[in-house]
Amino acid sequence: MIDYRVITLFPEMFESALGSSIIARGIKDGLISLECTQIRDFANDKHHSVDDSPYGGGPGMVMKVEPLASAVASISAGLDQPARVVLMSPQGRRLTNDLAQELALEQTLVIVCGHYEGVDERFIELFVDDEVSIGDFVVTGGELPAMVLIDAVSRFVPGVLGDLNSAHRDTFGPESDGLLQGPVYTRPSEFRGLTVPDVLISGDHAAVERWRKDISLSRTRERRPDLLKSED
Ligand SMILES: C[S@@+](CC[C@H](N)C(=O)[O-])C[C@H]1O[C@@H](n2cnc3c(N)ncnc32)[C@H](O)[C@@H]1O
Repeated sequence: MIDYRVITLFPEMFESALGSSIIARGIKDGLISLECTQIRDFANDKHHSVDDSPYGGGPGMVMKVEPLASAVASISAGLDQPARVVLMSPQGRRLTNDLAQELALEQTLVIVCGHYEGVDERFIELFVDDEVSIGDFVVTGGELPAMVLIDAVSRFVPGVLGDLNSAHRDTFGPESDGLLQGPVYTRPSEFRGLTVPDVLISGDHAAVERWRKDISLSRTRERRPDLLKSED
């Protein structure tokens, strides 16, 4: 069971994206809970402003520290124990399956979504435990990265996937030996002249396992040789 508390300017984005498929089922089954906190509700001036121009000048706006701090404080006040606070940021630690698995052990995860030029550094210093990036590119806000994080983490929460082994065996999964997963097929056995490899319909499980290992290795060598560097 994991409890996500998302701090965002756009809570409605989460309803549509996480309201279907496996995550929605996890929520329905009580394995995942997700609550959004609107940052604007914690604005402390009469205009409800959540951003201001940067000290020192420059383009864009910066998210103000007080509304974010109050949003975290209001969430913390309702929890039995302190929760890990993650800020989505292109400057953060890269999200990997290992990090997703680590975060899945948390009871509560507070996820903060930035916007504009980012958030006032003092918020990060005082309240954030981890900054997490979904990759070396910049998107306009932290909501999509937060949804990616929630999806990746939830796959490691027991019961969310029908078979947790599948998360473990996936590409980058803890049992993948650091290799990419090989190709997968389903019926029909022939489509437009392309047939399923014979071994997969041979019924010989040991041969299937061997084939999967070999093709995993050759695919990794071809597509992501960087993952094999440790073999050198
Ligand atoms: C336009 S970005 C700000 C980028 C910031 N000016 C910088 O150079 O680091 C606005 C927000 O989107 C989110 N964001 C953008 N790219 C991201 C990424 N690759 N991973 C995680 N969050 C990201 C962060 O929450 C960030 O505060």
